Amino acid sequence: MASAWWSCLFLALLSCLAAAGFPRSPSRLLGKRSLPEGVVNGIEVYSTKVSCKVTSRFAHNVVTTRAVNRADTAKEVSFDVELPKTAFITNFTLTIDGVTYPGNVKEKEVAKKQYEKAVSQGKTAGLVKASGRKLEKFTVSVNVAAGSKVTFELTYEELLKRHKGKYEMYLKVKPKQLIKHFEIEADIFEPQGISTLDAEATFITNDVLASALTKSFSGKKGRVSFKPSLDQQRSCPNCTDSLLDGDFTITYDVNRESPGNVQVINGYFVHFFAPQGLPVVPKNVVFVIDISGSMQGRKMQQTKDALLRILQDVKEDDYLNFILFSSDVTTWKESLVQATPQNIQLAKEFVKNIKVEGATNINDALLRGIEMLKKAREEHLIPERSTSIVIMLTDGDANTGESRPEKIQENVKKAIDGEFPLYNLGFGKYLNYNFLDSMALENNGFARRIYEDSDADLQLQGFYEEVARPLMTGVEVEYPHNDIQDLTQNTYQHFYDGSEIVVAGQLVDKDMSHFKADVKGHGALNDLTFTEEVDLEEMEKARKEQDYIFGNYIERLWAYLTIEQLLDKRKNSHGEEKENLTAQALELSLKYHFVTPLTSMVVTKPEDNDDQTAIADKPGDDPSASSVVPVMAYQVSYQPPQVTYVDGDPHFIIQVPEKDDAICFNIDEDPGTVLRLIQDPVTGLTVNGQIIGDKAGSPDSKARKTYFGKLGIANTHVSSRIEVTPEKITLWNGDTPSTFSWLDTVTLTQDGLSVKINKKKNMVISFGDGVTFVVILHEVWKKQPAHHDFLGFYVVEGHRMSAQTHGLLGQFFHPFDYEVFDIHPGSDPTKPDATMLVKNHRLTVTRGSQKDYRKDASDGRKVSCWFVHNNGQGLIDGDHRDYIVPALF
Ligand SMILES: *[C@@H]1O[C@H](CO)[C@@H](O)[C@H](O)[C@H]1NC(C)=O
Ligand SMILES: *[C@@H]1O[C@H](CO)[C@@H](O)[C@H](O)[C@H]1NC(C)=O
Ligand SMILES: *[C@@H]1O[C@H](CO)[C@@H](O)[C@H](O)[C@H]1NC(C)=O
Repeated sequence: MASAWWSCLFLALLSCLAAAGFPRSPSRLLGKRSLPEGVVNGIEVYSTKVSCKVTSRFAHNVVTTRAVNRADTAKEVSFDVELPKTAFITNFTLTIDGVTYPGNVKEKEVAKKQYEKAVSQGKTAGLVKASGRKLEKFTVSVNVAAGSKVTFELTYEELLKRHKGKYEMYLKVKPKQLIKHFEIEADIFEPQGISTLDAEATFITNDVLASALTKSFSGKKGRVSFKPSLDQQRSCPNCTDSLLDGDFTITYDVNRESPGNVQVINGYFVHFFAPQGLPVVPKNVVFVIDISGSMQGRKMQQTKDALLRILQDVKEDDYLNFILFSSDVTTWKESLVQATPQNIQLAKEFVKNIKVEGATNINDALLRGIEMLKKAREEHLIPERSTSIVIMLTDGDANTGESRPEKIQENVKKAIDGEFPLYNLGFGKYLNYNFLDSMALENNGFARRIYEDSDADLQLQGFYEEVARPLMTGVEVEYPHNDIQDLTQNTYQHFYDGSEIVVAGQLVDKDMSHFKADVKGHGALNDLTFTEEVDLEEMEKARKEQDYIFGNYIERLWAYLTIEQLLDKRKNSHGEEKENLTAQALELSLKYHFVTPLTSMVVTKPEDNDDQTAIADKPGDDPSASSVVPVMAYQVSYQPPQVTYVDGDPHFIIQVPEKDDAICFNIDEDPGTVLRLIQDPVTGLTVNGQIIGDKAGSPDSKARKTYFGKLGIANTHVSSRIEVTPEKITLWNGDTPSTFSWLDTVTLTQDGLSVKINKKKNMVISFGDGVTFVVILHEVWKKQPAHHDFLGFYVVEGHRMSAQTHGLLGQFFHPFDYEVFDIHPGSDPTKPDATMLVKNHRLTVTRGSQKDYRKDASDGRKVSCWFVHNNGQGLIDGDHRDYIVPALF
């Protein structure tokens, strides 16, 4: 009997194969003997476990179901799993009475022959078909002898993509009966640390069921578990049907202190990039909307509702226009208009009055929209730093004008010429989605299905939200050529807020000790280069402590991404190129055991390798450790190169290269005081610094230590400002802020201004040639009870600043002279006193030393100087209180 089931087994995961062709055995209740609970039609499904392990967004899911046939005849047992369309099945095994039948991935053509043979022999099948919006369904049925046990185990993997600030994992839960051991378990490990984690199920409406759900996260680990007891599963106290029916969704995000994160294992790396705090790049949007007859009714109403809501959210510095198409093409305005409140009002009126009519002329509508965007750019109608997108919505196939899909694609590609992305929204079922998909893909966009349902307007609006906030354009991720190979896609037209760029590849030399990545792009205000330095030895050490990570996941993640991108490219290729892409994707699918559109899963009978009759394949493309001794130094040399700095307990050092010596002084003021360091009315540059005190805040001003905790650097002529604190760096251009953290290594350039942040060390600010400042970050040991982190400010280049420059630092940019004589022992035998003649004053000064921290922020380099007492009195112009200003800017 044990082998009899085999003749009835056939698994094929075939796209859109009608389930009707595979009859199931009639369901009958068997026997009069009392059966345990949870037995339906003689079959007891006694355990279902969904186990998800996610490491660095790469999800590995195993669904295991165990059943026993308690009837006294053979029975059919079926196993259904709904998995994300973006996932690849990687394994499937059947175990019957202790014998395991493993799955193997074969080229589809090879598998197909076995499939056809099996079908002709009338064997039952398993299949995968599209199911719902985001899922596809894997179904397998096997005949199980009376008293026999069967275990199904399905494994699938996917890279979770970030949308609107979250990674999302969907699990469809729909057991057909009560299950004694039912469990969903997800373990998440994210090297950047988890910032949010949530789990929701559409069917958890009552408190009883809610108590079966636990979720927690801390540091790098997160865990979700859902384990309802038999009683909790019941739809009512004595019912035998299950409450569990619906979507189970896990969402999470990771910490974003640093814009990028690189992980390396065994010669493979993955690089995640999602900078925060950048302002939105203004965008020029052309909506190309289908108003053909078939849009009549609810579809048009939902489209209008969505457009009206989108108009509500359009930002004032965006530009837009509408192009409507049916048999003809009409436009709202002749050219793009700015989204001023008046124009938005007019646009809403226009949208409300859209009427449907005629046929579908996609070609002319798209070409008109593309031309309009290009002309707006050529004629400077739109801001220089802005980006363009075309969003097309249609519910049908082109049927007038140029209606051949290949020709439309060719025309559109030529017209756009890679300048901006095209997004295609396919509304409803009656359209050539593959055409929309491949056309969008070859123009750097993507296609989305809008499902005809009561929430279609929300789907449309949701799509818009995803592309509404571009933070960078023309993004290129660069690695030294000689270090990296087999890179996945590394250029992106846009980086959208809430998304993430993922690049994976191989290291040429597995044993290399470090490598570097530069992410370049254009921001709303400036050009940016984020630099990621990866210390592989340190990473390897850290990784050894993380036994949590499953296997060699980065290599699999790389393979997954590579296959996905090869398959996308393949959609728009022909001839030899297509063959090559197919061959590459197939080779990787076979090597890494992925069921892709090119491969099938074949379940093999272990004792007889020839009799491979079970097949699974994927449907088509449907849809500082020491406490720092605080010292503040301020150093100026008045001939180029001019070096000036402030660092520590306000210690100002003025270097005088002519004399090969330096002068120094302190300023002792209350915490909160803002001091003017530089002010140049000619160049418009000002630098102010705000004093902070010790944590303890000693009332004795002699013993109190103070530092600079905030610096404000501004160029009033071009209304740009930079505020620096030990926590973050904020740049304003006008009123628009961009925020960076000290964990970034990033270079920004805009209109002659260049800012480079060197992760946790310093930042270099240049206002063209001739003015360069360096800000040093002093990090105090975190457990240090008394001191705060603070900043040092250095003018390393200042010759372009005018003779009118003033301020505590700025006044020393002008040539000045001094004389020191009468050197004699002072009160401290190691520090002689002397007399100094400067600016017509006779001062008593003391020999001392301060430090220059530019090269080494923790120890610094000793600089000897003549110390001027009493807040620099006599050295500085006027009184030190004259330099107090009311605010940072
Ligand atoms: C498939 O799953 C079975 C059962 O867990 C396991 O023994 C086998 O090694 C897996 N195959 C692959 C290729 O991972
Ligand atoms: C539920 O079952 C218990 C035990 O079999 C029985 O005593 C009770 O009356 C039943 N309740 C309902 C509402 O059927
Ligand atoms: C296809 O691959 C072959 C061998 O690798 C190569 O010579 C050929 O140029 C490729 N053709 C295209 C169109 O990429």
